[in-house]
Amino acid sequence: MPTSNDFTTNASGQLASAFFPASAPTPFSRADFGADFHWGAACAAYQVEGGWQQQGKGPSVWDDFTRRRGAIRRGEHARVGPDFFHRWPQDLDLARGLGLTDFRFSAAWARVLPAGTGPVNQPGLDFYDRLVDGCLARGLRPWLTVFHWDLPAALQARGGWTNRDVTGWLAEYAQVLARRLGDRVSHWMVLNEPMVFVGAGHLLGIHAPGRRSLGAFLAAAHHATLAQAEGGRALRAALPAAARVGTTFSCSQLTPHRPGNAYDEAATRRADALLNRFFVEPVLGLGYPVAELPPLGWLLARYQRPGDEERLKFDFDFWGVQNYTREVVRFTPWLPLQWATLVSARRRQVPHTEMNWEVYPESIYQMLKKFAAYPNAPRLVLTESGAAFPDHLQAGQVPDVARRAYLQAAIGQVLRARREGVPVDGYFYWSLTDNFEWAEGYGPRFGLIRVDYETQQRTVKDSGRWYRDFLSGQPVPAAAAPRAAVVK
Ligand code: FCB
Repeated sequence: MPTSNDFTTNASGQLASAFFPASAPTPFSRADFGADFHWGAACAAYQVEGGWQQQGKGPSVWDDFTRRRGAIRRGEHARVGPDFFHRWPQDLDLARGLGLTDFRFSAAWARVLPAGTGPVNQPGLDFYDRLVDGCLARGLRPWLTVFHWDLPAALQARGGWTNRDVTGWLAEYAQVLARRLGDRVSHWMVLNEPMVFVGAGHLLGIHAPGRRSLGAFLAAAHHATLAQAEGGRALRAALPAAARVGTTFSCSQLTPHRPGNAYDEAATRRADALLNRFFVEPVLGLGYPVAELPPLGWLLARYQRPGDEERLKFDFDFWGVQNYTREVVRFTPWLPLQWATLVSARRRQVPHTEMNWEVYPESIYQMLKKFAAYPNAPRLVLTESGAAFPDHLQAGQVPDVARRAYLQAAIGQVLRARREGVPVDGYFYWSLTDNFEWAEGYGPRFGLIRVDYETQQRTVKDSGRWYRDFLSGQPVPAAAAPRAAVVK
C-alpha cells in the first residue's frame, strides 16, 4: 500500500540520482538568484475556475469535450473544480503567505467574449479586473496568459484553429484584455504550449476538440504559429511600453534509446524538430524544421501564404519555457512516417510521476541552455515546472516529500543554468493548488496546496512550506532525496 510519502518507482536506489544528479548545485539559497528574480506559481482558467456558466460565460471546447463519453478519466469535468472563480481571494492570500512575488493565470476567452468575437461580457471582464487588483493588493505581480486552451465553442463551430481567421479572433480578444488590464498587468503570454493543444487536440484526439487528423493538425499548427506572432503584435500595439510581451513553449530534453545507434539518433532529431523546435524557430525567422519533418511540406503548400514567413516572426520580450521531464526516443520502422516513438518511463523502469513522466529535473537546465543558444533569443522564464505525486492529508499536514524534493531539484537546475550565463529571470511552479488535469481529471495532483474537492478545503503541503522557507531566505541543505519509495 503506498503511503503519503511514497511515489512510484521500481528501485529506491535510483531515487537520489534521479532527483539530484551529480551536476545539481547544492547548497544554495534565494539570494543566489538576485533580488529581481520572479518567484511564482502558475494556473489556468479552465483547470481552476469552475463557474462554467456563471455571469454570462459562454461554453468552451473543454466544456464540450468533457461531455464526451470516455474522453476524461472517470468522466470528470471542471464545472466546479477548485472553484477559483469564487475562492480566488483565499487562494491569493495563500500565495502571498508562501511569499510568492508573482502569480500566473489565464483568462477564459468565453468568459470575456462568450461568442469568441463581438460583444464583451462585462461581468466576465470585471472578474479579471478584480483578480488583477487582488494580486496587486497582495504584492503579487500578475502574469496573464491570453490563451490556455479553452477556445470558445462558438469559434470551434467555425473551424477553430483550423480556420485561418483564428489569428484575427485571437488578436481581437488579446486587445480586449490589454485595453482593460494593460495598465496593471506587466507580463503577458500569448499562447500556452501550442504543440500540446495543437498536437493533443488535433492529431492525437486526447484533448479538446478531439480531432484525429493530420490535415487538421497541420492547419492548426500553422494558424497557431501565425497567431502567436499576430497576438504578440496585437498586445504590443495595445499595451503600455513598459509591459512585457511573451509566449510559452512546451519542451523536453530528448535522448536516443540506444545512444550511438544511427536510427535512434535520427528519430531523436525528428522528435526534437516536432516537440522542441516547431513553434520557436518560425518566430525567429528560421522557418519550420522541414528538413527533419518532410510532411511539413504539405503544411507549406496548403496553408502557408505569400508573406507568412514574415508574419510568423515576432520579437518577444521573453519566452516562457515549460518543462516537466525528458523523453527517450526510439526509431519505429512500422509507423507510416518512419517515425519515432517515445519509450515510456514505466517501461524503462525509471522513477516517474503519476503522469508517467520520468523524474528528470536536469531537463530544465538542458532546455534553458538549448533555448538560450538561439541567436537573438530573448530573456527566458521557466513559466511551468512541477510534479504530480500522490499525497494525503495526515493530521492536518500533507507530507509530500517527493514533490518537495522535485521543487528543490528544479530550482537548483535553474540556478545551474543561470550560473552559466543563461538569462533566465523567473521560476513558476505548476501549480499553486491541485486542479483539473485535462484528460487525466482530478487524479494527478500537482499543487503546493491540497484541495479537498468535497469541502473545498485548502491545506498547504510540505512542498508549499518548503517553498515558503526557501523564499524567506533559508538556505537549502545538501540535496536529500526522498527515502520512501514503493515497488509497484
Ligand atoms: C502543461 C500545461 C498545464 C498543466 C501541466 C501539468 O502541459 O500547460 O496546463 O496541465 O502541463
